[in-house]
Amino acid sequence: MAQQKYRFDIIAQGEVLEEYMLGREPVTMLMGPLGSGKTYGSCMRVFNQMCEQAPNATGIRKSRWIAVRNTYPDLKGTTIKDWQELYHNADVQLGKFNMDFPPTHSLNFDLPDGTTVQSELVFMALDRPDSVKKLRGIQTTGFWLNEVKELAKPIVDMCDGRHGRYPSAMDGGPSWHGMIGDYNAPDDDHWLYELAEKIKPEGWHFLRQPGGVIEHVRGEGKNRYSEWVPNPDAENLNNLPDGYYIRQVESKADDWIRVNLANQYGTVADGLPIYRGQWNDVLHVSKFNQLPLPKHGKLLMGFDFGRTPACILGQLTPNGQLRVIREFISENMGIRTFLDELIPILKKDYPNMPKACWEAYCDPSGLGKSDTDENSPIEILNTEYGILAYGTTSNKPENRWESVRYFLNNAERDDANFVLSPQCSVLRKGFNGGYQLRRIQVAGDARYTSIADKNKFSHPHDALQYLCQGAQGEVNYAATDEFYGGQPPTQTADSLAGY
Ligand SMILES: Nc1ncnc2c1ncn2[C@@H]1O[C@H](COP(=O)(O)OP(=O)(O)OP(=O)(O)O)[C@@H](O)[C@H]1O
Ligand SMILES: [Mg+2]
Repeated sequence: MAQQKYRFDIIAQGEVLEEYMLGREPVTMLMGPLGSGKTYGSCMRVFNQMCEQAPNATGIRKSRWIAVRNTYPDLKGTTIKDWQELYHNADVQLGKFNMDFPPTHSLNFDLPDGTTVQSELVFMALDRPDSVKKLRGIQTTGFWLNEVKELAKPIVDMCDGRHGRYPSAMDGGPSWHGMIGDYNAPDDDHWLYELAEKIKPEGWHFLRQPGGVIEHVRGEGKNRYSEWVPNPDAENLNNLPDGYYIRQVESKADDWIRVNLANQYGTVADGLPIYRGQWNDVLHVSKFNQLPLPKHGKLLMGFDFGRTPACILGQLTPNGQLRVIREFISENMGIRTFLDELIPILKKDYPNMPKACWEAYCDPSGLGKSDTDENSPIEILNTEYGILAYGTTSNKPENRWESVRYFLNNAERDDANFVLSPQCSVLRKGFNGGYQLRRIQVAGDARYTSIADKNKFSHPHDALQYLCQGAQGEVNYAATDEFYGGQPPTQTADSLAGY
């Protein structure tokens, strides 16, 4: 074979990258910021392992790898391009590259020790759970999952069950088989977070690169803000333009920076976050969980009904600060079941706030009966559960958002006028972008729907809006009283105080 200019000697550009390339556990996963050398690291590891496969009786090192990406355009536009930059280009030719379906690089080259590497790298887009059909019948040594967080869990599970059958026993079997994967930080309710931080499956090794930037929280009270500084320990800096990370900080929102540059778990919105410009995670989230204080009087509740009932607890301090204490969120449950679970928790956790000081604010449409229930949701709260409950003055989205913004914006104080307990993690993620106007797919400018995307953030956020309306006195007492024939619902509640 003619002398070739192989780039075998490219070395890892950081300690974590090196650990990733040298790892030989059944599964190694690498989480890192943008541009940190993850993809190159994966390519180099695949290549090294192709060369490491023990030769068969005739001196041939056989293996087959599958490079997985979620979509074909991503595969073509980045994964294949990155691989080719290293192992199939004007300088390096190690075998035939076939761009037919599925694109395959058939490597066939000699090593200095006289053995021959014969390996296939097959590029596959597996974007839907049923795309695992494409894997049927394929015998593989290993998988490289590029941008793992874009893949559905069943796909990764399926891949995990399908390595190790190549090369065959006749060729000595695989010296190693397994999966490697690289990705940017996912959200902390992503399956990858669960696996990496909670389940930690046997044989899976999770690695985390240092961030490209580090966050410092500066200032006091209302003036608190995040300052981002370059991280001298970031990896792959030698191959990136000067100031690569810090320059990107300029134009980006903190939630984006945290995930993409600082390598922290978190949410990034692709729609338009509803409280963008008003919500400040550093300012509005308190350091400690808030507890309801009897001296502040009522314990306020915002309710969202429907099949995903949510309740948000809050309190208004005498100087007008709204403290959001706790979130209760459910799925596929009626309001009665929800209340049956909620009330005992409140009684147990907040014994100094008895039911007599609870007051609930709800969607005014909750006064209307449904076809299937003789009592409306507000009525159920009042008459069946003895919780003093009112509809608010309006359920128009703009009005509700305004009531939240009122607390977020209020400029007459030194500290925040709105304080969220850190245990309200779903509300917080919603504020940080999950609660959003959905992006409409049109060419050109970004356009958004005018109503909030219905998602797991929208139900607790709806409930929070009713809470904020109630806390400002935007409550339709008259309609509720009228509904009870001119009697305030308190009387009904009192009569059931022993519930
Ligand atoms: N070992 C290396 N030797 C030389 N250059 C490298 C090496 N590793 C990475 N690079 C350079 O750094 C760039 C970024 O690396 P890479 O694409 O692997 O990062 P990444 O973490 O996958 O980025 P992204 O988050 O954008 O997918 C590459 O395009 C390449 O130019
Ligand atoms: Mg990459």
